[in-house]
Amino acid sequence: MVDLRVNLGGLCLDNPIIPASGTFGFGYEFADLYDINILGSISLKGTTKEPRLGNPLPRIAECREGMINSVGLQNPGVEKVIEEEIPKLRKCFNKKAIANVGGFSLDEYVYNCEKLGVVDEIGIVEVNISCPNVHAGGMSFGTDAKNAAEVTKRVKAVTNKPVFIKLSPNVTDIVEIAKACEDAGADGLTLINTLMGMKIDLKSRKPVVKNIKGGFSGPAIFPVAVRMIYDVYEAVKIPIMGVGGVMTAEDVIEMMLAGATAVQVGAANLVEPMACKNIIKELPALCEKYKIEKLRDIIGGAH
Ligand code: SIN
Repeated sequence: MVDLRVNLGGLCLDNPIIPASGTFGFGYEFADLYDINILGSISLKGTTKEPRLGNPLPRIAECREGMINSVGLQNPGVEKVIEEEIPKLRKCFNKKAIANVGGFSLDEYVYNCEKLGVVDEIGIVEVNISCPNVHAGGMSFGTDAKNAAEVTKRVKAVTNKPVFIKLSPNVTDIVEIAKACEDAGADGLTLINTLMGMKIDLKSRKPVVKNIKGGFSGPAIFPVAVRMIYDVYEAVKIPIMGVGGVMTAEDVIEMMLAGATAVQVGAANLVEPMACKNIIKELPALCEKYKIEKLRDIIGGAH
């Protein structure tokens, strides 16, 4: 019997599979499709202080091997998330979830982390300093090592939960940013967020997405994510949640060999809502094929 369990920053997961923020709502929406308790955990929809409608439509563009989104952090705001969304999740999910925190200023990150950081159902606070779709905050914190360290330090001061910082691939040197977050006290890192991209419609000769550019995700970015996880694993001691273009159980094993302790599945959920369930089902046989008895033993195995 293969042991799929992993320890993610002190949180013991039955398996490393976690739906990525923004691709799985607040989790309960998927509970009609399958028993979501099979998941390792769930990274909830990115949450800001105020409710947000997000960017104007259209904000999705299908591309070869992936998609562009410019959603713009649409969410009901932190109070409603705590009072309405998380209680709905509690009814169908008996594990700890991951709160994904957005922000437009240092103070907002702190405010949101302080609020979500005391919620019982939350096991990890994931701080998104890498959203490419908002004009203030978001990615501007994640593309500068000093800013990234400052956010990390400030949010660490207001919560006792493990803090994972979600990093942007839209930088020259992701290792520098990762090390700055580790030095500032981060308990872990999530990488990578989407790559900045755009798509132009030939007929109208205009960008497809109203916001012109957006974040590119899907299988095409998988090798980029693997490379960045590999590089960051070499440089830090804190655990990494890998994310970026994961479609199959094979991808999960590859990402863990690069250095991921857990693996988030994002765009795949939008193509196939059962993606996470299918991957979890396929993992044991795949582990047997590759003679893996304990999945956690392969973390960083490619180094
Ligand atoms: C969005 O809401 O724009 C996506 C979130 C992200 O890419 O961080």
